[in-house]
This record gives sequence, C-alpha cells and structure tokens, in this order.
Amino acid sequence: MDRAKLIIGNQTHELDIIKGTEGELAIDITNLRNDTGYITSDTGYKSTGATRSAITFLDGEKGVLRYRGYPIEQLAENSTFLEVAYLIIYGELPSPVELENFTNGITRHTLIHEDMKKFYEGYPEKAHPMGVLASMISALSTFYPDDHNTNLDPEKVDLTIRRLIAKSATIAAWSYRKSQGFPIMYPQNRYSYCANFLHMMFALPTEEYDVNPTVVRALNTILILHADHEQNCSTSTVRIAGSSHASLYAAISSGVCALWGPLHGGANQEVIDMLKKIQAQGGDVKKMVEKAKDKDSDFRLMGFGHRVYKNFDPRAKIIKKVSDELLSELGVDDPLLDIAKSLEEVALNDSYFIDRKLYPNVDFYSGILYRAIGIPTEMFTVMFALGRLPGWIAQWKEMRDNNEPISRPRQIYIGETKRDYVKIGDRG
Ligand code: SDX
Repeated sequence: MDRAKLIIGNQTHELDIIKGTEGELAIDITNLRNDTGYITSDTGYKSTGATRSAITFLDGEKGVLRYRGYPIEQLAENSTFLEVAYLIIYGELPSPVELENFTNGITRHTLIHEDMKKFYEGYPEKAHPMGVLASMISALSTFYPDDHNTNLDPEKVDLTIRRLIAKSATIAAWSYRKSQGFPIMYPQNRYSYCANFLHMMFALPTEEYDVNPTVVRALNTILILHADHEQNCSTSTVRIAGSSHASLYAAISSGVCALWGPLHGGANQEVIDMLKKIQAQGGDVKKMVEKAKDKDSDFRLMGFGHRVYKNFDPRAKIIKKVSDELLSELGVDDPLLDIAKSLEEVALNDSYFIDRKLYPNVDFYSGILYRAIGIPTEMFTVMFALGRLPGWIAQWKEMRDNNEPISRPRQIYIGETKRDYVKIGDRG
C-alpha cells in the first residue's frame, strides 16, 4: 500500500493511503494525533472523509451518481422507489419474492397509532410540515420503545425500517390534509407506495379519486433521484446521531431537521419562491442573476451550486426532462418552468457561475415537478425527506453494522487563556 510522508519539523511521519474501488484516494489520519500531537482542521469537512461507504458513488467533476453501482439514469428509467429503497438499504436488487415481501411489509405498516392523530390537533394550522415530520418521526419511538434497543437484532431493525418508510408517508400526507382543513384519508392496502401517498394527499371523501399512472411514474422517479447522496449534511447528521446508539427514529428525525435548512433540502422551496418573485417582477432573470453575484447581498441563486458537483448534477438533468414530459402529458403550462429555463441559460453563460462551476442542482427543477403533481410549496422539502429516507436508513445501518465508533470531532481552541474568577463586587 502506498504511504504519504508528513514532515513536521525534523520528524517525518508516514501515513497510509486508502484507495476506493473507484480510485478515490485518502490519507488515513486515524492515528495522527497519537503519533504527532497534531489534528487536522477542515471547517465544513470540505476535504475530510467521515467514513468508507459502499452505498453511493458520485463523481462531482464528471456528474456521475450510482447507487450500489447502478447508474442513477438506469434506475430512474426502469425501477420503482421501493425497489431502489431495498437496493440502497440491503445492497442488492431484490428478487421478485424479496421485493414482494418488502413491499407488503411496508404496505402493512402504513397506519399510525390512532393516538398520534391527536398530535395533529395540537399543531397550528400553518405548522411547517417539516416540523411536523421531524417531531412525529421522533414520537414514533414512544409508540415502539423496544425499537430503541434494536441492538441490531436483524428482525427488529427490518421491522423498524418498514415502519419508518411506511408511516413517514402517512405522517406527511396527513400534515398536508390538516393544513387544508381536510379530513385525513387513511392509507389503502390496494395501492402501491406512490399511489397510496397521492391518494392520502388528494382523494376527497366526496368523490372518486383516480390515481394517475403518469403522476405515479413521475413520483417514483423523483423519489428515486433523492434516495441517497453519500455524506451530505443531513446524512452525516443521521450518522452522527446514530453513532451514539440512539434509536433509528431519533437519528432519522435529526436528519429531517438538518435537511430543512435552505442551503440543503429546504432549497427546493426557496427556488419556487425565487421564481415566483422573478415572475412578479416581470420575469427579469438577469436582475436576479446580478443580485446573486453581488457580494454585498447575501442572496444566492437557490437551486444552483453544489459542494461536490462541479458539473451538471445528473439528477437535475433527469428532473428537468421528467418535468417537461409531465407538464405536457398533463397539459399543464407552468410559466415558472420557462423562467427557470431562462434563468439557467443566463447563469450558465455568466463568467461568475462558470468560474465557480455553479450548475443547477437537484433542487432547481424539482419544485416544478411537485407543482405539476399538485404538491404545495411548503411540502417540497417533505418530499425530499421521503425520498432520502432509504439513504438515511442505509447509511445508519452501514455505520451500525460496521460498529463505527461514536462520532466526536476535535477542535482548535481560540478563546481566552486561563484567568481567575472575579467576584461581582470587584468587577468594573
Ligand atoms: C442539496 O451535499 C449534498 O449532496 C446535498 C444535496 C443532497 O442530495 O443531499 O445534493 C442536496 O442540498 C443541494 C444544494 C441545495 N442548496 C442550494 O441550492 C442553495 C444555494 N447553493 C449554495 O448555497 C451553495 O452552492 C451550496 C450550499 C450548495 C454549496 O456551498 P459550498 O460548497 O460551501 O460553496 P461556497 O458557499 O463556498 O461557494 C463557493 C463560491 C462562493 O463565492 P466566492 O466566495 O468564491 O466568491 O460560489 C458562490 C459562493 O458565494 N456560490 C454562489 C452560489 N453557490 C455558491 N453564488 C451565488 N449563488 C449560489 N447558489
């Protein structure tokens, strides 16, 4: 194995080099502090690998994204969300029997405890559904206390995984119904996961609701595209929270909270608000681009830029295509799509964005697709969370299966040096 040489003063330290299956390289600094007394410093972990993972590979320079080795383009085209969830969590595409058992296991756990319905009566009508989702997922742990101590009992872990995937969709849909003053719609076992979600969201007791297969296909695709993305902010949060051996419900709830931020999953809601603002101001995209370049303004072009992708986010390309197709199949004309496309064109021809390799990311077009489905803006990040749930679960499972230690980063202290206490009467 190659080794790196670190020269500090008159000492040379040799460090192992780790090479991944796709040729990625890392310097192993596990024993750096013990061997040299030094730690590394990397605010925001821009050059720091937190783990070795076999779940998702992405190449930001080439715009490559694969789940367990399968290209995202092929999965988006051919698979379903639950099949991809199984792949990401268990590592292999399921056999027909495995997929049927996994699907049935989820279908049979879509109900939430009737006592949890009472929680919705306590939330204010305009409660943000991400706040509801995070607290309700955490509350699931109070109804299934034994899941706290899964201790990696495979059957208990699998049951908790099915409960989480099944009940999160019901919780999400019911938060929307509550916000609209609609009666809740119970899940129906005759539906697939996506069809069930649409039925719970949009069916009314006063009329028949026909689940549109085109919309079901589009929903499967966009959830697949969100299913995992290696060590992003919310996934790292799930791993860190789970590394204390808190329950999987607690770890997932922390991931929902981290995703909520506008720099992360909350960006999809911000993109639509930005596009609506451009529309209200007459559609002048150039003005918005100039504002995003202005260092005196803290405004950023939402849905643009990425910590890892310095080329097109492959998910954004697919979502843009699927949005186009869905809008034309549904005969929907959304002026925000045209504004988004012209904003993309102006930005991608502007040296500020070119020099910084800022491209549309997964959040740039996803809101257009959700709007076409009829999902309200404040539910967009909840949709991201439902999509990311299998990835969070898989990353938590990998961390626990590999018996990784509790995460506890170091720091460099830059505060006051030692000083003595001064009694209140003796202070100036
Ligand atoms: C997601 O990590 C993941 O994988 C996340 C995600 C996933 O699937 O989990 O892909 C999902 O979170 C996508 C990102 C959604 N967020 C947004 O769209 C918000 C807008 N984007 C930015 O805030 C920003 O691009 C980040 C947060 C996404 C990335 O920030 P970085 O990597 O810390 O980059 P940076 O802030 O250091 O920016 C580098 C330069 C800076 O300019 P300079 O100081 O060099 O002059 O680019 C500028 C930034 O000001 N910049 C932008 C910009 N994004 C970066 N300028 C204007 N508009 C933007 N959107």
